[in-house]
Amino acid sequence: MTALTVLPAGKTYDVAAGATLLQALLASGEPIAHKCDGKAECGACHVFVQEGRKSLSKIQRGENEKLDTIVGVGAKSRLACQAVLGEEPVTVELLSFV
Ligand code: FES
Repeated sequence: MTALTVLPAGKTYDVAAGATLLQALLASGEPIAHKCDGKAECGACHVFVQEGRKSLSKIQRGENEKLDTIVGVGAKSRLACQAVLGEEPVTVELLSFV
């Protein structure tokens, strides 16, 4: 287990290491869009990782290519469906509401 803090609400959840950010957010009841169901195709699950980026899995090619097509992407951007949680706490900022 690890800790996932979700901004802007500031709630912290105990979540399973090895799950994707998307899986952890949905299991925690946080609203996050995921139109392609985790295939790195829609970009709807774009989040900013404010802390703990090194705890997440590295960005792979498909995620990188999708991020390149999204307006407003920055150095902290990840697709929640592609980022796998490690053992260290992570703080993410949700950008959209469903
Ligand atoms: S759910 Fe579509 S890119 Fe993540």
